Amino acid sequence: MHIDKYEKFFMRVSAVFLGLAIVALVLSVVGHKAALPEPAERIDPELVRSTAPFDEPGLYELDNGDYEAVLVASAWLWDGIDEDFVIPAGSTVHFKVTSVDYIHGMLIPETNINAMVIPGQVTEVEATFHDPGTYTLLCHEYCGAMHHTMGAQFTVE
Ligand code: CUA
Repeated sequence: MHIDKYEKFFMRVSAVFLGLAIVALVLSVVGHKAALPEPAERIDPELVRSTAPFDEPGLYELDNGDYEAVLVASAWLWDGIDEDFVIPAGSTVHFKVTSVDYIHGMLIPETNINAMVIPGQVTEVEATFHDPGTYTLLCHEYCGAMHHTMGAQFTVE
């Protein structure tokens, strides 16, 4: 079968890029823990506020020195973050989040946290906060008239 030399050239170039794409995919999965999101747990959205741990949102110190932040998203608030949410620099925070009403989004700039918050699903994400400062948790999923106000701040000192 005759293959034109230019066609051959583009087939080779395509094969190289396909190979690079596969390498990039493997590196992102192995090196950067990229994964398809999976709910850690499912929960009836109507029962969120009466189901542990979401009945008491807030910041909890774990035995190993890490923190757990239990957050409940609702239009247009983040329950669980208030002025007492202060952690020392270098802390790792395990966020456990769900929504009682709409789909919200969870974004903390300067960190790797960027997740959907879906009613009926528990989202678990974590980050280590090395640098002191004020961090902002934003909703980045349009969730209604006051979506743009749905933010919360906490402090790393
Ligand atoms: Cu919550 Cu946008």
